[in-house]
Amino acid sequence: MTAGTVVAIANQKGGVGKSTTAINLGASLAFLGERVLIIDLDPQGNTSSGLGVDRGAIETSTYSLLVDGAAAEDVLEPTSVRDLHVIPANIELAGAEIELVSIMSRETRLKAAIAPILEEYDFVLIDCPPSLGLLTINGLAAANEVLIPIQCEYYALEGVSQLTRNIGLVTQNLNPQLEVEGVVLTMFDGRTTLAADVVSQVRQHFGETTYKTVIPRTVRLSEAPSYGEPIEAYDPMSRGAIAYRELAREFRRRHGRT
Ligand SMILES: Nc1ncnc2c1ncn2[C@@H]1O[C@H](COP(=O)(O)OP(=O)(O)O)[C@@H](O)[C@H]1O
Ligand SMILES: [Mg+2]
Repeated sequence: MTAGTVVAIANQKGGVGKSTTAINLGASLAFLGERVLIIDLDPQGNTSSGLGVDRGAIETSTYSLLVDGAAAEDVLEPTSVRDLHVIPANIELAGAEIELVSIMSRETRLKAAIAPILEEYDFVLIDCPPSLGLLTINGLAAANEVLIPIQCEYYALEGVSQLTRNIGLVTQNLNPQLEVEGVVLTMFDGRTTLAADVVSQVRQHFGETTYKTVIPRTVRLSEAPSYGEPIEAYDPMSRGAIAYRELAREFRRRHGRT
């Protein structure tokens, strides 16, 4: 067995589609036959609730992994999708940002925690919080690759150079093999010329790293989390489901899987 590929989904801007992409890329990969684990590394816990986890009822979480030294196999949970597991998070994780400061090897706690279970999965997706603190550093240190969602909006590229710098710092100091695997354009509104401008700007900046698949802005994608379901389950014929399925196919091709 080979160890699964770990992908950090990161962008320190909030609201760009990180959690939506973690949930729906993860679920679509699982529907295509991959074994997928999603780790919620954001204290807001949107990915956990979007996958049907009751945040109020969480007993063990990403916090337990990072701070209490819990074993990953004891913390992960199944979801309604076959072969899609989640390590959930809730607001308790906000404390980890501070508590980790005084813990040994604070930047590599997540990496160490998931090492024993990597062989169980083809892909591990880490949903990072909208910040560049210790939680995100743990995500980047544990990852083989970074996937950057960029919203098709004004100032889309703002902050991206800061993220790129931080990825560079992690590469130099903690994780030499880390690379930016891809950039995904999200919330594309075909009616505006702005969105098309952003797409060409991002393609100019990132070249081939940019995914060909662009995720449209659709109401169905924003509704699905309140039902605790990925779009594949909530409305499999919708444009959003089709787009995330196509993204998953492109992702698999890039990873040499047919
Ligand atoms: N393609 C989309 N179309 C419509 N709404 C979207 C889309 N992607 C994300 N959203 C909504 O936008 C908000 C922010 O997305 P989210 O994935 O939570 O971003 P982040 O994790 O980067 O903060 C959420 O309410 C989400 O449901
Ligand atoms: Mg999020």
